[in-house]
Order: sequence, then C-alpha cells, then structure tokens
Amino acid sequence: MVEPKYISDAELLSQWDYMKKVSAISADFQSIQGRPPSAYTKTFGCQQNENDTERINGMLEEMGYVFTDRPENADFILFNTCAVRDHAEQKVYGTVGSLASVKRARPDTVIALCGCMVQQPSAAEEIRRKYRHVNLLFGPHALYRFPENLYRVLIEKTRIFDNAPSDGNLTEGLPVKREDKTRAWVSIMSGCNNFCTYCIVPHVRGRERSRLPEQILKEVASLIKQGYKEITLLGQNVNSYCNDLDIGYDFSDLLKEIDAMEGDFTIRFMTSHPKDASEKLIDTIANSRHISRHIHLPFQSGSNRILKLMNRKYTREDYLNLISMAKERIKGVVFTSDVIVGFPTETEEDFQDTMSLIREVEFDGLFTFIYSPRTGTPAATMEGQITDEIKHDRYNRLSALQAELSTLSNQKLVGQVVSVLVTGQNDKDPSLCDGRTDTNKLVHFPGNYPQGTQVSVRIDRALHWGMYGTLADK
Ligand code: SAH
Ligand code: SF4
Ligand code: F3S
Repeated sequence: MVEPKYISDAELLSQWDYMKKVSAISADFQSIQGRPPSAYTKTFGCQQNENDTERINGMLEEMGYVFTDRPENADFILFNTCAVRDHAEQKVYGTVGSLASVKRARPDTVIALCGCMVQQPSAAEEIRRKYRHVNLLFGPHALYRFPENLYRVLIEKTRIFDNAPSDGNLTEGLPVKREDKTRAWVSIMSGCNNFCTYCIVPHVRGRERSRLPEQILKEVASLIKQGYKEITLLGQNVNSYCNDLDIGYDFSDLLKEIDAMEGDFTIRFMTSHPKDASEKLIDTIANSRHISRHIHLPFQSGSNRILKLMNRKYTREDYLNLISMAKERIKGVVFTSDVIVGFPTETEEDFQDTMSLIREVEFDGLFTFIYSPRTGTPAATMEGQITDEIKHDRYNRLSALQAELSTLSNQKLVGQVVSVLVTGQNDKDPSLCDGRTDTNKLVHFPGNYPQGTQVSVRIDRALHWGMYGTLADK
C-alpha cells in the first residue's frame, strides 16, 4: 500500500495547541469588550469549497468566535475564493475592495482570503500589492494551518501569505461546523490528476489524494447517527477514489459499504468523470438501497474534436453508451451535467453536436458555462478563441433548449405523488416549504414542516426549474 499523504500527528497536535492559544485571546477579548469576537465567512465556488469553509467555521468556533451574517460588524472576515472562471475571481476582487472602508472604520478587524483563487501566485501578488487591508491569505493546502496563521496575525500584527504548493496535506481530526442539519458534505479525496485543458483546478488543488476508507466510513456512520438524511461524497473525480493508494479498493466498494449501513438516508456523490465511470459503479447503484438515482455526469461537449482538445479522454459515443447502460440497469435514473460553450475553435457544427447530445440524453438539468480562459492552462493560449458575441449566442440557444427539456421532464410528474425531503421554508414566500425529490428536483408546497422531514407531495404544476405541489394523504 502507498501511504496516504496525511499531515503528521505532531503537526495536528500543534494546530490544536494554537486553537487553545487563540481561545485564550478570545476570552481576553470577551472580558474587555463584554462579548465574544465575531466572525463572518462567505464561500465562492463549489461544494468542496463549502466543505472547506465548514472546517474553517469549526476551527473558529473552537477558538471562541461566534458567527454573524453582517461583515461590517465582524471582528474576523473571511472569503473562501474560487478560480474556475474569471467571473468568480472578479466577484472576489469587488467584494474585497469594498471592505477597505470597514478596515478604516475598525482597524482591528482581521480580513482573510483563502481558497483556490489565492493559491495562484499571480492573484496572491495582486492582493499583496493592491489590497493592503487583507491581513491573512492562505491556499487550500494550508487550510489545516489556519489556527497557527490566525494566532500569528493576532499576536504579531503582520500580514501572512501562506500559499506554497503542496501535495501532502490530508487532515483528519480537525473540527467541522456543518451549515445544514439535514444534508452533509463529506470530502473523500482532494486534488485532480486529469488536467482538462481548460481547467485551473489541478493547478490550484494539486494531485489526487484519497482519504482512507475507514476514516470516511467512520465519518459517514457518525453523520447517519446524528440524523443526517442526505450525504454527498465529494471529489473532483470520485471514480478514481483510491487509485493513488493501491489497496485493491475503489469508489464502488466505498459506496457498497456505506449502502450497507442501517438508517434512513440517501447517498449522493459528485463529481463523476465519464472516462472512469465503470459498469461496476452502475451495478452498484442499481443494486443499492440508499444511493440516489440521480447522477451528475459532466460531458462538457458533444463534439469528439472538442473533447479531444479538452483532453477529456472519452468520445461522444462512449458517453452515450454509458448513459444507455445506466438507463437500462438503474430504474428511473436521471442525469444532470456540466457543459461548456465557446471552447477555442468550437464551430457551429461542434455546437450542434452538443445540442444533439443534450436532446438525446434528456438531462434533468444542466449547468452551462461560457468558456473562460484561465492563465496557465493550455486552452488559454490556443489559437481560435471564440468571440464573446458567439459564446453568448450559443449559451442562449443552449439554455432555451434545456429549459424546454427540463419542463417536459418535470411535466411527466404532474398528478403523481412523490417523496420529498424538506430542506426548509421558502425564502420569498414563508407560507411555502421547499424540498427535493430523490432525483434532486426542487418542489414548493404549502405548509410548515421541519427540515429533514420526508413527506409525500402531489405534483400540481411543472416549470423548467422545478415544481409546485400539495401535501398528499399518506
Ligand atoms: N471535477 C469536475 C468539475 C469541476 S469544475 C468535473 O470534472 O466534472 C466545474 C465545472 O466548471 C466543470 O465541469 C466545467 O464545466 C466548468 N469549467 C471548468 N473550467 C472552466 C473554464 N475555464 N471555463 C468555463 N467553464 C469551466
Ligand atoms: Fe477540472 Fe477536469 Fe479535473 Fe474536473 S476532471 S477538476 S474539469 S481538470
Ligand atoms: Fe471548486 Fe472553484 Fe476551486 S470550482 S475546486 S472552488 S476553483
């Protein structure tokens, strides 16, 4: 077996020590100010980033911080950033820029940036030079060193920038404060080895590192015991889970072990890379009790020429074969996917290949992205970059097609009674409850039920983004 790349026990203990030291500083703060220090944290980006923020919040809580949703009042402000598209980065620069006035009004406020964007040396340099009110910056590799870095910022009053690259930082045994009481994220691996030519993720998150199965099983068992109803296993490519460990164990084995646990829960996972989605995986889902019949399987493009340029390592035909095998073997399976429009050199014909693949699969939902060049990735310097006008035109046509298909798929449920997991009250209309079907479709229905309750809902009306229903008699 290849040893997993965990940080050492000594390192972990040292971080717990720093948490105690910061706790003592928080206690002093409380005795002077008559209140504990407060923290505001915000996440940009994917579920892995959400899960990282939950870890940071766990450490903050352990260090005596209470949480606020108003940054202008907080003693500690943190943004967990994303680098996947330019838009995500511009949002961060805008938000951080607007905090300069908060820092002027309350100079003791600690402003921190972490996550994928600031792992890039160029972004860190930009922050260092132009955003001087940022005290602390750290990349995903330095997440576990947060207590030490915060301590140093508080004591030494210096700026700390901790974003050196690393591939050896899996960590067990740090606290986590989960946002939701019903649905939990469980990261099963970090990093990515695939180097799709458009993507920054492998450059900022490093190579694949799998957590040991026993650690994941322990975490999942404890979540089920605490009453979590939905557990989502996270990784950039969950299908290559354990490839780096050489222990004769794979993602399907992990799913089977979790599926064998007793309790009332659903397992989801993301993301599956089509090149590694196996027949074994499909049969595991088909024979399971707890695995959702909803699979998120990004195809990115329907054109073989573009797929090759993207370095995706499967063809349109491979993808469609996988989908038809899954549809045959998994009763009621539905798919969602990610797709990129306007990749360099994409012609109208390539785009039509994407449109026809979408019609053929009939996805339940699609996340459509306009190609965004990322510095340091091969696609950014390819000849044949597409104009914004063409990109937007393709984006609009694709979104219209998907809206039509999603409406048709949702309309099939009108008149049926479906099982729905309550996720909370509706933000806009408090007389409505929000919930998700087993296949992750959004449903609104009148009433007031606690988060995590499973209810039966009759579907009355379908739109492209979801459905309206009413509670059905059991
Ligand atoms: N590991 C996952 C995806 C992570 S990024 C996978 O392989 O499926 C999430 C999505 O962002 C990708 O699926 C892709 O559709 C999109 N994306 C990534 N880089 C992009 C870029 N440079 N421009 C536009 N979309 C991008
Ligand atoms: Fe990016 Fe490709 Fe890795 Fe997904 S599999 S994170 S798209 S490089
Ligand atoms: Fe996720 Fe964005 Fe990083 S999509 S892995 S937070 S670049």
